[in-house]
Amino acid sequence: MITFDFKTYQYQELKEYDLSNIKEIFLKDNNMAGWYSLDDSQVEEIREIAEHVRANCDVFLVIGIGGSYMGAKAVIDAMSPYFTKTKPEIIFAGYQLSSDYLTELLAYLEDKEVIVNVISKSGTTLEPAIAFDKILSFMEQKYGNQSSERIFATTDAHTGTLLTLANQKGFHKFVVPDDIGGRFSVLTPVGLFPIAVAGLDIRALFTGARLAKANLDNCFYYTMLRHTLYQEGKVIESFDTYEPKLASFLEWLKQLVGESQGKEGKGIFPVSTINTRDLHSLGQYYQEGKDILFSTCLFAHSNQEVFLEPYAKTLDKVNEIAMESVAESHYNGHLPSSIISMDKISLENLGYLIFFFEMSTMLGSYLLGIRYYDQPGVNGYKDILHKRIKEDS
Ligand code: PA5
Repeated sequence: MITFDFKTYQYQELKEYDLSNIKEIFLKDNNMAGWYSLDDSQVEEIREIAEHVRANCDVFLVIGIGGSYMGAKAVIDAMSPYFTKTKPEIIFAGYQLSSDYLTELLAYLEDKEVIVNVISKSGTTLEPAIAFDKILSFMEQKYGNQSSERIFATTDAHTGTLLTLANQKGFHKFVVPDDIGGRFSVLTPVGLFPIAVAGLDIRALFTGARLAKANLDNCFYYTMLRHTLYQEGKVIESFDTYEPKLASFLEWLKQLVGESQGKEGKGIFPVSTINTRDLHSLGQYYQEGKDILFSTCLFAHSNQEVFLEPYAKTLDKVNEIAMESVAESHYNGHLPSSIISMDKISLENLGYLIFFFEMSTMLGSYLLGIRYYDQPGVNGYKDILHKRIKEDS
């Protein structure tokens, strides 16, 4: 269960916008709203293949960047224990260009049974292409002509270098739907397959997402609220949590919002904090710095009963009191907060939030008058990088 408090720590008067005509909004945004249909037709197939993978590897290596890995990592990290190593171990690669990471990864994989999932919708992105090139050589050396059976490619149905390679080599394939962009693809094979390999019930994500879809009032309210705040000069949204397991979920959220809405000189800049840790670093700025921030807190209750004798309270209660105290103190310092509370971290709740934030991102972009599903600005650095990489050194 998720509860929303958009009022206690807000002082702005909400400006109301008509968001009820969702169909019209989708039409305006043409053919990239496939995520809205919550198509779960591949769930059983993915689960079966994932079971086979789980039984046949020590390490499941997911290669991708941006929307091609952040959703899976968000859910897997949120649901994984802190200290127990799960089997198979899920490792992510191809999301940076670190020589140390790749070298150490290859050494680590040496004596492990490995299955790989390379994910790239375009099939041409540099970072995963570089990582996969090295991993493919490693797999071919290790498994010879059996290597293709241990490689899954998740990519476009029609074009791209990865698709061509997958066809040539005979990798297993999953398709990224034409009408779903990377950062909206967590509930497609892009996110679902790694999540299922982690042993998590992907059907439960859909249960939560459907609940969010059927109850859009809070999503509408949140969308209007953050747009109101933005228009009043609050141009930075801080996604805060008091549960470090949600750190990757906040990374996913920052990508969703930042890449969707930062365009044409507009958009709220998303940042995140893990509290109470960051109260002892960034907290000072939040309390007394420039008046440009608002907070959206994702609070998650814990099921663990840790009783604190001196306070006659559970640690979970103290964590909640800390969160509320911070919201009150920030409110006094002119920083408004919304609080979204989960009764626990569960797949249903995460599925709910995935849909909630995807929907709000789409609607918020509509209010800003921008397209939410592309990222033309990212090509700026890519064009220069590709040109420079080819230059003689
Ligand atoms: O959200 C997006 O569309 C991007 O972040 C992409 O997911 C990212 O750039 C990776 O692209 P691709 O899957 O084509 O390799």
